[in-house]
Amino acid sequence: MFNVDKFVKEETERLRERIKGKAIIACSGGVDSTVAAALAKEAVGKNLIAVFVDTGFMRKGEPDEVKCMLERIGLNLRVVKAEDEFFTALKGVTEPEQKRKIIGERFIRVFERIASEEKAEYLIQGTIAPDWIESGGGVRDKIKSHHNVGGLPEVMGLKIVEPLRDLYKDEVRKVAKHLNIEVHERQPFPGPGLAVRVIGELTRENVEIAREANAIMDGEMEKAFAEKKVSKPWQYFAALLPVKSVGVHGDLRNYGYMIALRAVESIDGMSASYSKIPHDVLDKISVKITNVLGKKVNRVVYDITNKPPGTIEFE
Ligand code: XMP
Repeated sequence: MFNVDKFVKEETERLRERIKGKAIIACSGGVDSTVAAALAKEAVGKNLIAVFVDTGFMRKGEPDEVKCMLERIGLNLRVVKAEDEFFTALKGVTEPEQKRKIIGERFIRVFERIASEEKAEYLIQGTIAPDWIESGGGVRDKIKSHHNVGGLPEVMGLKIVEPLRDLYKDEVRKVAKHLNIEVHERQPFPGPGLAVRVIGELTRENVEIAREANAIMDGEMEKAFAEKKVSKPWQYFAALLPVKSVGVHGDLRNYGYMIALRAVESIDGMSASYSKIPHDVLDKISVKITNVLGKKVNRVVYDITNKPPGTIEFE
């Protein structure tokens, strides 16, 4: 049985003993990196520098929200605008593992830059158990390279510290709650962000479509929760499929993309079943997406695959 009080006390102590000097941590605003940062801040105070990298793959309004949230925790924060760098590195790349590797490597390059400016010796990461198990760290086949693992070059010059390495998502949420961190109710969002929700090549336009579709789905789901039409799934999102199909817009033929909606029930993300969202809720999301995204998207589908055989994200 996971004892949250004991974990927090012991891990803070371990971090204090291990980290002798300056440390940096990449904060995405997600529960994992925020909890890891809060623990490390307890242990080393201002010797911890939190780095928020704006990759261009965040959800609508997220960069500002994350910045405010991290500042409220009292972290020593640096914001890096790296959108151009990421899009340039990913130009023409369509293969999911390659996308993940490039994103992971870009992250590391940015950290290395900041770490050398700050003269930091340690890199703290919010890696949790499913990240390394599914990245081939255990006895299983490699399924996906999670960006905080797969992108790591062999020699980084920084000592890696992973305070949440043995925890599962539900346990990390318990730690967040224990530390009074407001992100604990947020649903999980993958490290590479919208980059794995735009299938195939990433263009600014496609990422923008996925961002808008996700914002619409979030908004409609929130309304449905408030009206008690649906209980909150473990995770839900929209992905842009690089398939064009024929539709009709006004009286004119239209050739546009497809959005796939996904909602799943899970405990730890290792397995999942698709959520039985009522059709009237799906209908509202579909109508709004095709209205707002006009000619760009003319078809919306709902994914009814469990994990396995699917994964939760599409890439
Ligand atoms: P999959 O798609 O592997 O996802 O079934 C399981 C859970 O992990 C999240 N996910 C990630 N989280 N870095 C992360 O920190 C990643 O690269 C990553 N990829 C997927 C996914 O959203 C789901 O909650």
